[in-house]
Amino acid sequence: MARNRYDMDEVLEDSFDISQLKRLGAYVSPYKTKMATVIVLMLSASAATMLVPIFFQRIMDIYIPEKDMRGILTVSLLTLAVAAYSGIAMRFKIKIMSTVGQNIIHALRTDIFNHLQELPFSYYDDRPHGKIQVRVVNYVNSLSDLLSNGIVNTITDLCNLFFIIFFMLFCDAKLTLVCLCGLPLLALVIVFIKKKQRKAWQIQSNKQSNLTAYIAESINGIRVTQSFVRENENNQIFNNLSGNYKKAWMRAVKFNFTLGPSVDMISVITTSFVYVLGIRWMLAPDATLTVGVLIAFTSYIGRFWAPINTLANFYNSLLTAISYLERIFETIDEPVLVKDAEDAVEMPPIRGEVEFRDVCFSYEAGHRILDNISFTAKQGQTYAFVGPTGAGKSTIVNLISRFYNVDSGQVLIDGTDISAVTIRSLRSQMGVMMQDSFIFSGTIMDNIRYGNLDATDEQVIQAARTVCAHDFISQMEHGYYTEVNERGSRLSAGQRQLISFARALLADPKILILDEATSSIDTETEILLQKGLNELLKGRTSFIIAHRLSTIKNADCIMYIDKGGILERGTHEELLAGKGAYYELYMSQYDFLTKDGAEDTAAGDGAAGSVPLRFETA
Ligand SMILES: Nc1ncnc2c1ncn2[C@@H]1O[C@H](COP(=O)(O)OP(=O)(O)O)[C@@H](O)[C@H]1O
Ligand SMILES: [Mg+2]
Repeated sequence: MARNRYDMDEVLEDSFDISQLKRLGAYVSPYKTKMATVIVLMLSASAATMLVPIFFQRIMDIYIPEKDMRGILTVSLLTLAVAAYSGIAMRFKIKIMSTVGQNIIHALRTDIFNHLQELPFSYYDDRPHGKIQVRVVNYVNSLSDLLSNGIVNTITDLCNLFFIIFFMLFCDAKLTLVCLCGLPLLALVIVFIKKKQRKAWQIQSNKQSNLTAYIAESINGIRVTQSFVRENENNQIFNNLSGNYKKAWMRAVKFNFTLGPSVDMISVITTSFVYVLGIRWMLAPDATLTVGVLIAFTSYIGRFWAPINTLANFYNSLLTAISYLERIFETIDEPVLVKDAEDAVEMPPIRGEVEFRDVCFSYEAGHRILDNISFTAKQGQTYAFVGPTGAGKSTIVNLISRFYNVDSGQVLIDGTDISAVTIRSLRSQMGVMMQDSFIFSGTIMDNIRYGNLDATDEQVIQAARTVCAHDFISQMEHGYYTEVNERGSRLSAGQRQLISFARALLADPKILILDEATSSIDTETEILLQKGLNELLKGRTSFIIAHRLSTIKNADCIMYIDKGGILERGTHEELLAGKGAYYELYMSQYDFLTKDGAEDTAAGDGAAGSVPLRFETA
């Protein structure tokens, strides 16, 4: 699939799948009783209100001519009671339905988020994160009104409509027919705009999504933006995206606005017909129609069109909501490509042998990154991957944790294919420190404890000591309880690395993966760290991608990765003796170092280990 960007609209669904509305029903159904109560309440209120025109008709036609003051008073008091009852019913409706609406939204939002937590890296690789956010937040919120008041209002209004027609028929059947003639006209308007309206709202949601994607990207990239003084260009891009969103919204809402005035116009036309015909029929010699009936009838006409207006509004918001619903269910339905096989078993306690057997892998179809990679890593040994940037080192280690599925071949741990075991049992036995160390908002203690909530404070501190993070953490304002922001903007890059290093270690993993774990850490700290690590790496199989010679040199096996394969493998000495690609890289660095007056590193003694080997600057 082509990857989406902020300036790319997402694909539009051609026709709405009505089953989506049924699915929504599943979210609504727990509140059936509550909704039914509200509906009964509202219907009883509107039935009572419906009597008011009849009261007035009696006043006009009976009590006034008969000068019956008692009758007038009784009817007035009844009218007052009806008004009070509708007021109370309305208050209950608002209270109950806003809670119901929010509960439904909460359930939907939770489902999306839970699903997002399971979706594989590839899902996140394929689209801007802002486009995911907009679904969880904005789209779901936009459904709030539809789900709470929309459903109840529609049912109440439909019932009201039948009530009113009943009362109108009770007053005068012929006039009722005149009034009903307006409905086919309205249906015509709806048929005419429906398709365009749906499309317009889909486009609007796409533009909103693009805009959010750009906002999210800009916030994440603000440091780069400002250092390259790109503010004006970015404002221009934002202006365009926001302008497109505005235009799309205006266009979509234009269709919504068509319906209201159409209802009004049709109601005015039919009402005038009712007046003209009603007066004529009233003046006819054998007339049965009285002034009171005509007045009562015309007041029903007003009430007849009011629910139709609300139904039209509901229809509008339904069409708007459908464009959001599609996206929401699309996210919930997104297949979890990396998931437990049906017959997945628990990974037994890992001993630590890792084997790649003819592994091929590509992120995007047709663009192969790893081509038939095979190697076996023995239990308890340290393996280093080196090679130019973009060679596939991080990709290889990502496959060990099964962050992606291999295209073909197998990744085996202790002889078990990792696709046959549960992901939880696999990953919980591994310590992974990724290339970009992420810090979550919270205390430093929380951050280290992230993957092992049972760890005691002492264990956290021990892990921090091992990776030489203890000193700088203790010097911070509140030590381990210092609050850090999302992405750890209060910390230096090296400090962030040390914290995520400690986090990876805390799980006491049998397999440890360190992707550029020390790239931002000063040489001195690194030597210290190496000492602590040597102790720690004992008994664990570790995979290390590193810039520096010290870490690479001591590995039991170094694999030189390039062009989708393992070009060379062996110990540091063996590879140097082989005079291949590793040797070349090493020597180019060596020349540079000796010219700078650095120690002779080729001899491979301990002190030379600290010299940075910048493989990745090529
Ligand atoms: N998420 C991704 N989607 C598509 N291509 C990717 C992704 N991550 C890495 N690549 C590509 O795969 C290749 C190997 O990347 P990587 O394993 O990260 O290299 P490195 O050896 O620098 O760690 C690169 O060409 C990179 O462009
Ligand atoms: Mg990498």
